[in-house]
Amino acid sequence: MDSYTQKMNFFGNTDPEELVTKYGSPLFVYNEDILRRQMRRVAGLLPNHRFTSNFSIKTNSNLSILKIAYEEGLNADAMSPGEIYALKKAGFPSERIFYVSNNVSEDEMQYAIDEGVIVSVDSLSQLEMFGRLNRGGKLSVRINPGVGAGHHDKVVTAGKKTKFGVAAQDIEKIRDVAAKYDLHIIGLNQHIGSLFMDYKPFLEACRNFLHYAEEFDELEFLDFGGGFGTPYHKLADEQEFDIETFKKELDALLTEWKKTSGRDVLFKTEPGRYIVAEGGVLLGKVHSVKENYGHKYVGTDIGMNVLMRPELYDSWHDVEIYREGKPVTEGEREVYSVVGNICESGDIVAKDRELPVTHEHDVVCILDAGAYGFSMSSNYNNRLRPAEVLIHSDGSDSLIRRRETLEDLMRCFDI
Ligand code: LLP
Repeated sequence: MDSYTQKMNFFGNTDPEELVTKYGSPLFVYNEDILRRQMRRVAGLLPNHRFTSNFSIKTNSNLSILKIAYEEGLNADAMSPGEIYALKKAGFPSERIFYVSNNVSEDEMQYAIDEGVIVSVDSLSQLEMFGRLNRGGKLSVRINPGVGAGHHDKVVTAGKKTKFGVAAQDIEKIRDVAAKYDLHIIGLNQHIGSLFMDYKPFLEACRNFLHYAEEFDELEFLDFGGGFGTPYHKLADEQEFDIETFKKELDALLTEWKKTSGRDVLFKTEPGRYIVAEGGVLLGKVHSVKENYGHKYVGTDIGMNVLMRPELYDSWHDVEIYREGKPVTEGEREVYSVVGNICESGDIVAKDRELPVTHEHDVVCILDAGAYGFSMSSNYNNRLRPAEVLIHSDGSDSLIRRRETLEDLMRCFDI
C-alpha cells in the first residue's frame, strides 16, 4: 500500500532516508510541483476581475520559495521590515509588496515608506503616525469587518475580540484623520483569521467589507485577506478546501457589487497556508522508543523549537513512518506519542497516534509542515534550526537553506 507522500511522489528521485543521510535531520522538505500547483490555484481565483493575490510570507520566507512565488506572478504581503527585506532580496519590486503593519514603530513605518511599499495601518493612532510621517501620502486601512474565523482562538483576527483592524463604526473617524493629513486612502484590507474549511464566514465578512468600501471615494484596491484552509487530517480523508465553489460564489458576490456600486477596483487576497502547507513536510529521526507508565513514546529530534504548532495550538499534523527509505504501511500498529528533544513536557508533535510499530533509526515524516513550520522555529534550548531542501519538478533535490551551526548561536555576541 502506498503512503500519502508516495502517492504524491513527494520525494522525487530520492527518499526520506537518503535525504536525512545527505542533509541531516531534522529537515524541512518542499515539493516544487505542489507549491506551484497551489500558487496557480490562488493566482487564478478571480479570472473575471482585476485581481492579484499576495503570498503571505509569514508562512514561509525561504528565499527560493519566494522566488517561485514571484515567478508564478504572485505579489506578497509583509508583516515586518524583515519580511520586506526578504522580499526585496527575492526580487520583488516595491509595488508588488504590501505591508500589513500592526503596532509598528515610527522607524518601521518610515522604512516601508522609504522602500516605496504601500502600508496598511491598523488603528486610528497608527493612521495619525502615518499622517505625521508622510503627509499627503497614499495608504490602506485595515478594517475589522466584525466577523472572524479560524482553527483556534489565537488565530481569529477579526470580530469583537481581537486587536486587529479599525472597527467599522470608526469609519467616520478614519476619514477625519485622513483629511487632517491630506491622506489618500487607496486601499482597504481585512483578514478574518487563519484556516477555515467553510468559506461562508469569509464571504459574509467580504459582504460587510464591500459595504464599508462604498464609504471611501479614492479606492484603488480591496484586499480580502487569506485564511483558506488546508486538510491536516488528510490521512482520514479530510476533503480539500473547496476552491472551485468558493471561486464561483466570490465571483458572483463581486460581480453583483460592481454592478450595484458602480465601482471597479483591483481585488486582492493574501493567503499563506493554502499556498505552502501541503508542499512541505518535516523529516526527523527516531532516537528512542520507550514506555512510561503505560504510555508509549517515539522520541525524535523534532522538538517544539522546530515545529511549534502542536504545542501552541494543539494542532494536528498527520504522521508517516519510513524505514530504509520506504513507508511502513502494513503490519502491527501501536498507539504512541511522537515527542521531541526539548526540556518541556508539552514537547509533543503528535499525541496518542496509532502508528506502525516504530523503531530507532526510523524516519518520521510530518505532513503539511510547509506553512508556519520553519518560520515559527526557534533556537530554544540552543537547538539549531534545521536545513530546508527543495525537490524540483525534475525529481532532483537541492539545499535551499543550510542547517545552522553552533557558531551561528554565537553570532550576536561580542566574543
Ligand atoms: N494576512 C494577514 C494580515 C495575516 O495576519 C495572515 C495570518 C495571513 C494573511 C495569512 O493567513 P493564512 O492564509 O496563512 O491562514 N501561526 C498560525 C497561523 C497564524 C496566522 C496569522 N496571520 C498557525 O500556525 O496556524
